Amino acid sequence: MAMQRFKIKGGNKLKGLVRITGSKNAALPIIAASILSDQKITIENVPALMDVYTMVELVKYLGAKVSFNNNVLTIHTPKIKKCKAPYDIVRKMRASYYVLGSLIGREKKAKVSLPGGCAIGPRPIDLHIKGLESLGAKIDIADGYINASTTRLTGRDINIGGPKGTSVGATINTMLAAVRAQGITKITPAACEPEVVDVADFLNTIGCDIKGQGTPTITINGQERCSGARYSIIPDRIEAGTFAVAAAITRSKITVIDCQPAHLQSVLELLAAIGVKIKVGQKRFIIDARCRLKPSHICVAPYPGFPTDMQAQFMALFATIPGTSMIKETIFENRFMQAVELMRMGAKIAIQGDTAIIEGVKKLSGAATMASDLRASASLVLAGLVAKGTTVVRRIYHLDRGYEKFENKLRSLGAQITRQNEN
Ligand code: UD1
Repeated sequence: MAMQRFKIKGGNKLKGLVRITGSKNAALPIIAASILSDQKITIENVPALMDVYTMVELVKYLGAKVSFNNNVLTIHTPKIKKCKAPYDIVRKMRASYYVLGSLIGREKKAKVSLPGGCAIGPRPIDLHIKGLESLGAKIDIADGYINASTTRLTGRDINIGGPKGTSVGATINTMLAAVRAQGITKITPAACEPEVVDVADFLNTIGCDIKGQGTPTITINGQERCSGARYSIIPDRIEAGTFAVAAAITRSKITVIDCQPAHLQSVLELLAAIGVKIKVGQKRFIIDARCRLKPSHICVAPYPGFPTDMQAQFMALFATIPGTSMIKETIFENRFMQAVELMRMGAKIAIQGDTAIIEGVKKLSGAATMASDLRASASLVLAGLVAKGTTVVRRIYHLDRGYEKFENKLRSLGAQITRQNEN
């Protein structure tokens, strides 16, 4: 497929309603979890995104029959045909490693390509391995593959705390295997992210017995079988947060619907603190930024703290608010790649270690920019919405991994944004 880019003409106010799709980071592990069952499973509110198609490709390779239409995915895996996740699929998406937990859980063996690093810095998987080993899996790494096997999985008390606190991925992967272990597993400190809760809730609807999801201790009572189910994925809190920032950066008023405002509390509190008016309703919120905004400070943290996946968008916003703002990124190294691109649009940003210091300017100006990762791409598009003149964002395949119909949604709110093929 040809490389594509966005062309954005800045300056339009936004108005109207935007509907949020299902969560990518919940959908990926839930699709991987579905192969634990030999019964038919229907999953609703699945976002139609590149990463989801990659996960579908992977579970099909393992033996699942899948159909995916209008955000509804059905998956049926009467038999696992292969226990291997090949490099060619895993290299497209790190989250492929979720089949490690499911395959070990169902088949007691798995061979999964190592995901490798990614643009936002080293992404170790030691805690995933620790979780699975604690349950009794024998794991060795050879020729770029993780080989795992066991004769039986046994429930245990597992500590998967890492140097940066909790791990979303390791909590989920351990949970996926533990649901098929004999006896009781206790995971501490468990990640409390809404996506972890959604995976646990899904597993409970296919007959698993998980308690404590959303708290630092998850307790799993292992079962021998999983059943079929129908389940609906939670709304994507990062997509909702990104549209909230789109309204804030353009000093506009919009309504964000089909979302879960409770999952966005830290983000909405910060927006309120800088002067944005927010009205929260049932599965929706109205955001009104037609006013003067104040600078602020963010320190990212695991849920319910401020999400690392939202800091790039706020960097663009802070760049437009007079005064000094700061962002401290404590979870991933090297996650300020949007800064240099924003600076090419006139933003004043200094990076000192894990902290970005942003000096707001009166006006950003349009420029040719390049996306480096998913959330960095979103931040460049947001900056383009207010910049004077035209902004071009290249390499938007990063953005397409995580936002469904992003430009269509922005256009329906009144933005001037088009997708073009690179020539
Ligand atoms: C998930 C999200 C990602 C989000 C992140 C943090 C998906 C597909 N991705 O990523 O969008 O930014 O949570 O909310 O859901 N770590 C280790 N060893 C491990 C695993 C992680 O040291 O084995 C470290 C990581 O390098 C990082 C921290 O723990 O510093 C948190 O990472 P983790 O919560 O695991 O993030 P992901 O699950 O990869």
